[in-house]
Amino acid sequence: MKFRKPAIAAWSLMLVFGLCALGACSPATPSTSSTATDPASSQPADGVEASTTEADATETMAFTWSPESDCAMCHQADTDSFDDASCPASQHADMKDQCMSCHDDPNMERAHSKVEIGDTKKKATLKRTAVTRESCTTGCHDQAELTEKGAAATVLTDKNGLTVNPHELPAHEEHEGITCASCHKLHTSDSPEEAAPAVCLNCHHANVYECNTCHAH
Ligand code: HEC
Ligand code: HEC
Ligand code: HEC
Ligand code: HEC
Ligand code: HEC
Repeated sequence: MKFRKPAIAAWSLMLVFGLCALGACSPATPSTSSTATDPASSQPADGVEASTTEADATETMAFTWSPESDCAMCHQADTDSFDDASCPASQHADMKDQCMSCHDDPNMERAHSKVEIGDTKKKATLKRTAVTRESCTTGCHDQAELTEKGAAATVLTDKNGLTVNPHELPAHEEHEGITCASCHKLHTSDSPEEAAPAVCLNCHHANVYECNTCHAH
């Protein structure tokens, strides 16, 4: 960039000078002028256009996200996960073209504000969007089904032998931030069995689900 800027400035000056030399600094059609056909004065103008276009093509292109964007263009792996039997996405195969039915977060546009075509590097360390619990429960997974599916799970067993159904956490404001996605990663084969205990340990630091037994707070 540092190298190109002065070069472009120089060409621009020559372009401006060249046009002014015609006798009028206006966007008059150059074809009416004899100097426009003169290679010495028309060449620089063409050169500027060609080199900037070339540079843009090899770098990145501006991108404005919308819910109608072609998600697969940049998220190939997530899209392919719908055909991978080891990923829970494969159980949602009919939703492969409906990314937004789960990713319907008002921050989606902002999360893509720095994205450019040709640059798919992840820039943010923190997630800015979430797949809400409601995305999964509205019209799809009901509580009766979930209670049943989690009934046999023993992964959430604390140090005292208390076992909790991952789909039936006691109602508590501290638990409201726990969503289906806390334990279920749809586009990878990461198992919920592995993810679940860590979610609880964030707060139940002693691996004891009952608080207030060791200290009051
Ligand atoms: C031009 C490329 C491109 C397109 C098209 C695109 N994305 Fe992205 N998306 C990205 C990049 C790059 C990131 C990482 C952004 C970052 O980390 O700053 C991202 C991030 C995300 C994230 C994570 C956001 C978070 O919480 O941090 C989700 C979810 C997502 N995209 C879904 C979608 C969906 C759904 C579509 C289609 C409607 C889509 N994307 C279209 C490039 C794209
Ligand atoms: C059935 C719901 C569902 C559908 C449909 C869905 N996703 Fe996801 N997606 C998720 C969940 C759940 C996560 C994990 C979110 C988390 O970790 O907080 C996720 C995570 C992501 C991420 C972030 C990955 C990361 O770095 O953590 C991207 C990008 C993404 N999805 C893209 C897509 C694209 C593209 C489609 C459509 C081809 C799609 N998703 C369809 C549920 C869905
Ligand atoms: C605390 C972690 C945790 C949370 C939160 C959670 N799950 Fe689960 N889920 C699990 C575990 C662990 C299993 C595996 C149970 C077993 O089979 O032993 C499971 C199993 C499932 C299954 C059955 C999968 C299969 O292959 O049969 C479905 C469906 C499911 N969860 C959906 C959900 C939905 C929808 C939500 C949100 C409303 C949710 N889960 C929230 C941990 C969690
Ligand atoms: C964000 C912090 C946080 C997370 C994450 C969390 N909990 Fe809790 N949990 C609490 C707090 C705080 C209490 C209630 C303390 C009180 O008021 O008695 C509690 C209460 C409980 C109780 C009721 C205990 C009783 O005395 O009846 C159970 C059971 C429990 N949590 C299980 C879990 C499980 C299982 C997980 C993981 C899936 C989990 N919690 C994740 C903070 C958390
Ligand atoms: C099995 C016993 C036990 C249980 C149950 C327990 N704690 Fe603790 N907690 C401790 C001990 C012991 C310490 C002191 C640890 C240290 O200083 O290294 C501690 C320290 C803490 C601290 C740091 C206090 C400080 O001043 O630094 C916080 C915060 C805390 N616990 C929160 C919780 C919460 C929230 C729960 C319930 C979700 C909980 N604890 C349940 C044993 C427990």
